[in-house]
Amino acid sequence: MADNFLRAFLLPLVQLPERFALPMISENIIRPMTEADLDQVLTVEQLCHRTPWSEAMFQNELANPLSRIDLLWRGPCLAGFLCAWRVCQELSILNVATAPNMRRSGVARALLEQVLARNLRAGLERALLEVRPSNVAAIALYRSFGFCQIDRRLRYYSDGEDALVLQLTPTGLVHPGMGGQIH
Ligand SMILES: CC(C)(COP(=O)(O)OP(=O)(O)OC[C@H]1O[C@@H](n2cnc3c(N)ncnc32)[C@H](O)[C@@H]1OP(=O)(O)O)[C@@H](O)C(=O)NCCC(=O)NCCS
Repeated sequence: MADNFLRAFLLPLVQLPERFALPMISENIIRPMTEADLDQVLTVEQLCHRTPWSEAMFQNELANPLSRIDLLWRGPCLAGFLCAWRVCQELSILNVATAPNMRRSGVARALLEQVLARNLRAGLERALLEVRPSNVAAIALYRSFGFCQIDRRLRYYSDGEDALVLQLTPTGLVHPGMGGQIH
């Protein structure tokens, strides 16, 4: 009797805060960027890159029908964003950034998963991106999805650093965390 009462009335009450509070604390909301987001996006961009994109560059992306910038929000905070172009069956990933205080909490992974899933459903044949060989964090992220190096562009960046060109094909896609091949 006491046991039934506990199960029927008390346990649900005790579990309520856990059931409802946890997803709200950690919930990721991903949505496309609009002009109203410019200030917050620029703040994250400037904290993340040696040569950050300007406001005009973001405006150009917003006006470009091939481009899409996805924002990941945690509550009121912009945690990160990903900008990619879709041209025919190819996706070019142009910019990925996570606010420094949100790093290593799955922000870039969630953004990349979402953009890849959406584009794979729409017949994506390959995704491409460039990354600095010194960017250990980004390379580890891309590698965990199965991106592989297909080229190296010498002195590609303005400071003279090379760029690695990485590609992901649907057959090469691995579940994040399972590793891929970068030579
Ligand atoms: C690269 C960057 C986008 C990663 O963002 P993030 O949100 O911290 O990444 P996630 O938390 O989603 O990490 C996913 C995986 O990437 C890898 N990774 C991310 N940061 C890493 C680091 N500092 N060292 C090693 N591996 C790292 C790990 O495999 C990680 O999985 P794990 O945490 O389960 O081990 C972020 O460090 C950043 O904004 N850097 C500056 C901008 C930049 O370099 N952009 C990429 C340009 S190509």
